[in-house]
Amino acid sequence: MPPTFGIVDLFAGPGGLGEGFASLEHDGHVPFHIGISVEKESSAHRTLTLRAFLRDYQARHGRLPQAFVDFHAGLTVEPDWADVDAQAWKHATHEARCLELGADEAAQAIDQSIDILRRKFDDTILIGGPPCQAYSLVGRARAKGKVGYIPEEDERHYLFREYIRVLDRLRPAVFVMENVKGMLSSSVESRLVFEMLMEDLSSLGTGQAHHYELRAIRIADGKASLQEAEKPSDFIVRAEEFGAPQRRHRVIIIGIRSDLSAQAIGTSIDVPGLPRTVEDMIGNLPPLRSGLSRSHDDGAAWRREVIDAAKQLTKTFKTVGDRPLENAFRDVATKLKKQAPVNRAASCLPDAYGTSNDELLSWIERVGLRGIAQHETRGHMASDLGRYLFAAVFGSVHGYSPKAADFPLSLSPDHRNWHSGVFNDRFRVQLAAGSATTVTSHISKDGHYFIHPDPLQCRSLTVREAARLQTFPDDYLFLGNRTQQYVQVGNAVPPFLARQIAELIRVAL
Ligand SMILES: C[S@@+](CC[C@H](N)C(=O)[O-])C[C@H]1O[C@@H](n2cnc3c(N)ncnc32)[C@H](O)[C@@H]1O
Repeated sequence: MPPTFGIVDLFAGPGGLGEGFASLEHDGHVPFHIGISVEKESSAHRTLTLRAFLRDYQARHGRLPQAFVDFHAGLTVEPDWADVDAQAWKHATHEARCLELGADEAAQAIDQSIDILRRKFDDTILIGGPPCQAYSLVGRARAKGKVGYIPEEDERHYLFREYIRVLDRLRPAVFVMENVKGMLSSSVESRLVFEMLMEDLSSLGTGQAHHYELRAIRIADGKASLQEAEKPSDFIVRAEEFGAPQRRHRVIIIGIRSDLSAQAIGTSIDVPGLPRTVEDMIGNLPPLRSGLSRSHDDGAAWRREVIDAAKQLTKTFKTVGDRPLENAFRDVATKLKKQAPVNRAASCLPDAYGTSNDELLSWIERVGLRGIAQHETRGHMASDLGRYLFAAVFGSVHGYSPKAADFPLSLSPDHRNWHSGVFNDRFRVQLAAGSATTVTSHISKDGHYFIHPDPLQCRSLTVREAARLQTFPDDYLFLGNRTQQYVQVGNAVPPFLARQIAELIRVAL
């Protein structure tokens, strides 16, 4: 019988990394089982718990519970999951814990779980990385601007020490630590955080039987393998190289316990070929319009605004003699006039749903669902609609997203330094024919970086579209309000990437 591994998932977010591991199956055998996942934010914790519930239910019944299918399709309110299946709910609430790492309560829960995992499984795995805010380049720039900010006192810098404590106690076969690229250059007390981390990780086990060998994931000739890193940037993993439809670059450090590291040498897995495009991932979802914020919102008013903006832009580009843009805006105005109004939300399943043979699409589209969930647009101000329309049309004509200087003056936002270069990328369309830029939690604040490529929809991405670009399967439901859902999606490791990392580790072990 192949071995089974119990997983400890720290800083679990909505569970993207855990999903990749827990969903792996090889010859009917499920090698990885989540024992405990720890997350402090309550909406992400609710998402984790529901997912743990479904996993347990499906393992025993071979299908999704009908109560979930109906709730997911928006036909019912959220049921009491304990009434749906008491055993699965008990399992889920035991697995997903809403606790703050660094506090004693979390340490006790984890230590208890470690004892159980040791008894129940052949070995263990630790996944998850301390949060990135303090390390991230943006976070640091922002923090530096704060009066009295002292990096040494920012406890988040030291949260990885809690991670090390768990690692030391668990002594897993493998650990997988994920973080933003900014952690490679972040420093505290004039020392690189990354250097300190490497020292801590490498010295773990000194004087004991086993230590950890640190490995980077390298891609070459269509294969992924675990290799020694020669420089810090070797630890950067590019999601698009694993077939994900997104250029997401993150630091992922794999530690292998020294008694197992020899057998891991030379093992590799095949990775999917070309990355998928934005069109591949979201092109078959029902078309939607955005809402109109700060004014009367209905389909007719929205269409009037977009047609007016398209006509205005047709004139602007006629005046400057830019025929391709002039024609493209005229085309939008004509099509919108003829097109039947679309809604702000839709849940109908696309044609031929769930029938694709493509590895990623068949991972996304799940059999048994009655609808598409969380595909509902936000409201945008009328002034932003013109900018979104411009960005989408410009992107389809030129094949790249416009910079501030490409926008006509009539669309300049009310920023004094709009043309200074500071706001160069303030509005970004996700190009249909390419891979998406990194889906971050910023998407929860506004949709300016995540403009839908179809000018006829003139809007930012829905939670479901962002989730698909993050390779979450369609039956992955994010709980909490919409802002919280966007944050969860943006924070996660793409599960499709995570599953390949899990497979690489399974083979290596
Ligand atoms: C980058 S996200 C993790 C994403 C996750 N690995 C995934 O793939 O979905 C980091 C998470 O750590 C959580 N977090 C931050 N500090 C924490 C703490 N002290 N205890 C528990 N969770 C924490 C945040 O709420 C956030 O959801």
